Order: sequence, then C-alpha cells, then structure tokens
Amino acid sequence: MSKKIFSGVQPTGNLHLGNYIGAIKNFVNLQNEPDNSCIYCVVDLHAITVKQNPSELKKNIRETTAAFIASGLDYKKSIIFNQSLVPAHSEGSWILSCVARMGWLNRMTQFKEKAGKDKEKASVGLYIYPILMAADILLYDATHVPVGQDQRQHLELSRDIANKFNLDFNSPNFLVAPEPLIQKNFARIMSLKDGSKKMSKSDPSEFSRINLNDTSDQIITKIKKAKTDNDPLPDNENELSKRLEAQNLLGIYSSLSDQTLKNTISEFSGKNFSAFKEKLANLVVDKISPISSEINKLLKDENFIDKILNDGAEKANEIASKKIKDLKKIIGFK
Ligand code: AMP
Ligand code: TRP
Repeated sequence: MSKKIFSGVQPTGNLHLGNYIGAIKNFVNLQNEPDNSCIYCVVDLHAITVKQNPSELKKNIRETTAAFIASGLDYKKSIIFNQSLVPAHSEGSWILSCVARMGWLNRMTQFKEKAGKDKEKASVGLYIYPILMAADILLYDATHVPVGQDQRQHLELSRDIANKFNLDFNSPNFLVAPEPLIQKNFARIMSLKDGSKKMSKSDPSEFSRINLNDTSDQIITKIKKAKTDNDPLPDNENELSKRLEAQNLLGIYSSLSDQTLKNTISEFSGKNFSAFKEKLANLVVDKISPISSEINKLLKDENFIDKILNDGAEKANEIASKKIKDLKKIIGFK
C-alpha cells in the first residue's frame, strides 16, 4: 500500500545515534519503498520553543539537512525542507490551537519533562508545540509518521485534533488522522553512561552519545568507555532485560547489523564485554563514519544545502498552501 510519509527533526545540534536508529534510518527505508511519497522537515519553528542562538540555529539547520542527505535521503525522491520557509505551518498551527483543548495539552508528558520544575518560566511555544506538530502532519494529509517512542503521545494528539476538526466542522475525512510508525525494536536508544536514560542531544556528557559527526577515534573511545557490568553476556532476552546497559549495546548492534536481538544474543552469549565492544565499535564506525565524512563534505557547500531547502520548500508550499486555503473555507473565512 502506498503511504504518505511526513516526519521532522529539530535542528538543535548534536544529532546522534538515537536519532539515526530511532528516526532517520527509517526515513531512508520508507523513502526506498516503492509507491511511498515522503516529506522530511527540518523543524526550525519547533527549535525556537527553547532559546536559540541565531547563528548556531542557522548552522544547525544546515547540519541537520546535511545529516539527512548523508544518511541516504534523496532530495530528488523526497521533499526535504525547513519549516519556517512554509508559512502554512504557523498559520495552521494557530487555527488548530483553537481546536485542541487545554486538557489534552496538559497531559503531554514531554512538556512536563522539558519544562521541569519551573514551568511558569517555560515558553508558551513549548506548551503548544504538539499543535504545531499536528499542523505539520495534517497539512500534507500524511497517513504515516515515523518517529521514536517519545513522540507517540504527540501523534495521538494529532489524531484527536484531526478528528475533532472533522466533527466540529462537519467535514468528514478532511483532515487525515495519521498512524504512527514506531519500530517495535530499538525504538529508544539509551545513554552510553546510564542505561535508564534516553540518549539525548542535551545530555551535558559527550560520552553519553555517539554524534553523527564523530570521528572514528571518538566513536571507538566512547564505546570503550560505555558503562557495562561485570558479567559475561547472557544467553536469553529475559536475563538481558535486567541489564540495561548490555541490552542497549546489544540493541544498537542488532539495529545497525539489521539482525534480530535474538541472533545478536546468540552471537555473543557467554562472551565478555571487551570482545563484544570491539565488534560493536567496528560496526558503528563502519556505519557512522561514512555519514560523518559526508556531512562534513556537504557542509563545505552551503549554497548546495540552501538550494535543496529552498527547492523543497517550494514543493511543500504548493501542497500546504492549498490545504490551508481549503481549511479556511471550511471555517468560514472569506
Ligand atoms: P529530537 O532529537 O527530539 O528532535 O528527535 C528526532 C527524532 O529522533 C524523533 O523521531 C525522536 O523520537 C527520535 N529520537 C530522539 N532520541 C532518540 C533515542 N534516544 N532513541 C530513539 N529515537 C530517538
Ligand atoms: N516533535 C518532534 C521531535 O521533537 C519533531 C517533529 C516536529 C515532528 N513536527 C513533526 C515529527 C511532525 C514528526 C512529524 O522529535
């Protein structure tokens, strides 16, 4: 069945192995399935929900775009653009914020995590960001949205908004409720320093994550230093699930080698960590170094990246501006 895919990544720097395994690797697979039409967005409007340095932001928009392309996204097959170039996202977000309910937003766990204790000081944008995300998706009639596990709740909100809009305005099926595409396995890559914490762009420790632009030496050192325990690797998933760090590292190995966790377990059961880590480091270097060097190569030609974004925005604008026009008509605007 052909799918209309939409997904986004924030240009907030430090794209890491979790972003690659949880999101970008899937973007590439979906792009390469025949019949799918895919739109991948660098969501810069989302990025400013927390304070950004303007010149850093500009750099990160290009870097995220370069990471998309270096990972295998093809701007000739997929639409690749940055959100702020297409005004319909901001406009749609306002209209949908009049459909979404406070109670729905109050349930969003990511806001609670990101705002922390001092939520009075969080930006209003951070609070309503799932509505902007809904606008992103609904403007393109996306049927499927590949994301990591942490975005599931936001996807459900998009569905609720679509359904309420259709009901309130008696316009059945006008907004398409999207399905999340969340991998069953390895949907959450954890910190290399703490198997109970998500690998994250904002972790202050560089040793918690492998960045997509790390050199081979950095990758090898980070894997060597990754937290483990003292026992040999187990021979079954049940035992493994009690050892968070081992589970995470074996998960990374399985995902990057495209094999099941079960196969990885049988490959390494009874072995000690040093033997496994050596294999893992080789694999990660094999998969990530080409991406890293391609990112660095692409970043040398800013005009090339900007052209991809501008061309992509033109195509996106054609679709989104038409949808906004229809949306306004339904609401009763002239
Ligand atoms: P973000 O870094 O929050 O902009 O996330 C971009 C995409 O990467 C989203 O689809 C996330 O769900 C996914 N993602 C982020 N961190 C991880 C992680 N540690 N493991 C798996 N997926 C992740
Ligand atoms: N909120 C997502 C994140 O932080 C990024 C995002 C914005 C997105 N708009 C989207 C993901 C639309 C999927 C579809 O990771």
